[in-house]
Amino acid sequence: MCYFANRRHIPAKLSSLMRPPSVRAATLPDLDRLLELEVSAFGSDRLSRRSFARLLGAASAASRVIAEGRAVLGYALLLFRSGSRVARLYSLAVDAGHRGRGLAAVLLADAERLARRRGCDRVRLEVRADNPAAIRLYERSGYAFRGLTEGYYADGAAARRYEKRLAAPHRGHSLATKD
Ligand SMILES: CC(C)(COP(=O)(O)OP(=O)(O)OC[C@H]1O[C@@H](n2cnc3c(N)ncnc32)[C@H](O)[C@@H]1OP(=O)(O)O)[C@@H](O)C(=O)NCCC(=O)NCCS
Repeated sequence: MCYFANRRHIPAKLSSLMRPPSVRAATLPDLDRLLELEVSAFGSDRLSRRSFARLLGAASAASRVIAEGRAVLGYALLLFRSGSRVARLYSLAVDAGHRGRGLAAVLLADAERLARRRGCDRVRLEVRADNPAAIRLYERSGYAFRGLTEGYYADGAAARRYEKRLAAPHRGHSLATKD
């Protein structure tokens, strides 16, 4: 692994010269890092290497990473169903050392933009009822609570279901993204 893959190892002066985080499509070389983020972010209901690899190449999925220089700091995984205008945010995680910087909000906005481009008018997601940071992120980002599903996760935890209606696409947004 590249020595600078973990941004905390980069001297402050060099770090300040790096470009701001930007979002791009995840590719196969990102697989190890995606699994690392997945394992450190989730105690159960994790995606396996095989599932991640399959989703990276699937037309029914969009896998996105947020990167600062060469360091991948987080990812979002969006699923689509043919004939449906509802996209599902299946997973979202940010490196523990980079939380609270608004990176998840940038990944979320990017996922919504992609969903609109794929003809979707809504994004749905489930989040553990005992995950206040994620709940705050979604509610702050305009997701409306749709109900609770008891025993949704493998360890028996309940899920809160959320949905956001997407505004019609508009030109000239300024998000730093590479498709
Ligand atoms: C949820 C997660 C993606 C948020 O990433 P992030 O980049 O830190 O998100 P942001 O910086 O955009 O916003 C985080 C918000 O959560 C808030 N937050 C952080 N920890 C919190 C806590 N323990 N309780 C309540 N809110 C909390 C922050 O204050 C911030 O809200 P604010 O800016 O309005 O104050 C990240 O915490 C993570 O990867 N968690 C593990 C995986 C996970 O739970 N994914 C979501 C699955 S649905």
